[in-house]
Amino acid sequence: MEEYLNNLTWRYATKKFDAQQKLSSTETDMLEEALRLSPSSFGFQLWKFYRVDDPAIRTAVKDAGYGQTQLTDASHLYALASKFAPTEQDVVDFIESIKTARGVTDESLAGYKKALESAVIGKPAGDIAAWTAKQVYIALGFLLDAAAQHKIDACPMEGFDSVKVSEIIGATKEGYTVQVLCPVGYRATDDKYAAEKKVRYPKERIIKII
Ligand SMILES: Cc1cc2nc3c(=O)[nH]c(=O)nc-3n(C[C@H](O)[C@H](O)[C@H](O)COP(=O)(O)O)c2cc1C
Repeated sequence: MEEYLNNLTWRYATKKFDAQQKLSSTETDMLEEALRLSPSSFGFQLWKFYRVDDPAIRTAVKDAGYGQTQLTDASHLYALASKFAPTEQDVVDFIESIKTARGVTDESLAGYKKALESAVIGKPAGDIAAWTAKQVYIALGFLLDAAAQHKIDACPMEGFDSVKVSEIIGATKEGYTVQVLCPVGYRATDDKYAAEKKVRYPKERIIKII
């Protein structure tokens, strides 16, 4: 338990990455599994996680991210995106995946299917998009935690033009909006932010036992 908390203290939003130090494929596989294993409402997974390896696309993302150097210098860059207009087909796909994973029948899932439909069909578009966007932040938490526990640096980032980045990486045409970016890799030895003291309210202020 102590090591777990030490790692959470060790991590920080890395401002300057060492551009020479790359993650191994074993490490990126682990981070991607953490994303895949993240829970979502109904388990619906109305999201897509893009890994942006193409240097030219990363440069374009940096330009749409106010020039923040993490976007090009970090070993790898993930863009976490949510589906903005889920359809009946998403319900059908998900029901099929439950049947495959658990060997259950359509009949046994009829009630669940109705609940899924009522969550995503016939509601105001803005409400649905806001709901799917929230799910992505759970995956972000899993990614940040998985990285920290393996002494991999990361920086959650909302400081970018989401419309532009979604276009640049091809998410928009696939029906997704990028909510948050997360470069991962290793901190530069001269990133002065690494030595900054953590700023967190004391437990008494944020945890209320009733
Ligand atoms: C959703 C989210 C968006 C953020 N966006 C940026 C960003 O665009 N650029 C940046 O340098 N840091 C960004 N941060 C980092 C926060 O400023 C940082 O996590 C916070 O100050 C707490 O510090 P720590 O993560 O170093 O403990 C973001 C953090 C979160 C959770």
